[in-house]
Amino acid sequence: MSIDLAIIGGTGLYQLEGFESAESIDADTPFGPTSAPIRCGRLGQITVAFLARHGEGHQHLPHRINYRANVWALHAAGARSVVAVNAVGGIAKNCPPRQLVVPDQIIDYSYDRISSFCDRPGEPVQHVDFTDPYSASLRADLLAAAASCDVSVADGGVYGCTQGPRLETRAEVARMGRDGCAIVGMTGMPEAVLARELELNYACLAAVANWGAGCSEQAEITMDEILAHLEAAYQDAHKVLSALVDSWG
Ligand code: HPA
Repeated sequence: MSIDLAIIGGTGLYQLEGFESAESIDADTPFGPTSAPIRCGRLGQITVAFLARHGEGHQHLPHRINYRANVWALHAAGARSVVAVNAVGGIAKNCPPRQLVVPDQIIDYSYDRISSFCDRPGEPVQHVDFTDPYSASLRADLLAAAASCDVSVADGGVYGCTQGPRLETRAEVARMGRDGCAIVGMTGMPEAVLARELELNYACLAAVANWGAGCSEQAEITMDEILAHLEAAYQDAHKVLSALVDSWG
């Protein structure tokens, strides 16, 4: 089966609207198993592969996700373009809860994650260019799709990737704001760089679930709040994804 588009679903996005999988790939890669089976099927006029990043029962913590297996398996299945959907906290004023964002830069604050396919004995060292971590053409397609269905999407912004699974302190988020981060999430890296190593077109559609720690009057961030905002944001994300699929069909 040739795959036109792969979609990696983040927290709260375990299936795609209007998508029925016709085939499941239980991928075992040189790096171990993927987070979940890759579900392949038609969405509109194109063939889509869907993978739940945290597992279909949300069982994998952000720092324990087998990012290498996930990206490798999508590439091995034939995907060349990947839209990553990620739940994030908002830091910049234009990224309030429920807002969708297509970031254009990354700062990686995570640690102890294996961030290269070259990290194996005997594998030649590769220093991939990562000046612009997301594919310009796929970002443009996502933004055009959002415009075509009247969904507001913030164009650009720095995705700051933290280690998790805990949320950040006020001071950490304040520092991230000073660093120029617009959003904070736990799963943007090393997924993006692994995609780059395999020369995939890769872009992120981030859904803001909450204000980052200390960015609002709220004393605490609750999981209930995160899930409620995400549900609303994903309604828009589904619209953008179907418009994207239609534009490719
Ligand atoms: N921080 C990090 N990751 C997140 C957040 C956050 O505030 N919200 C959703 N994912």
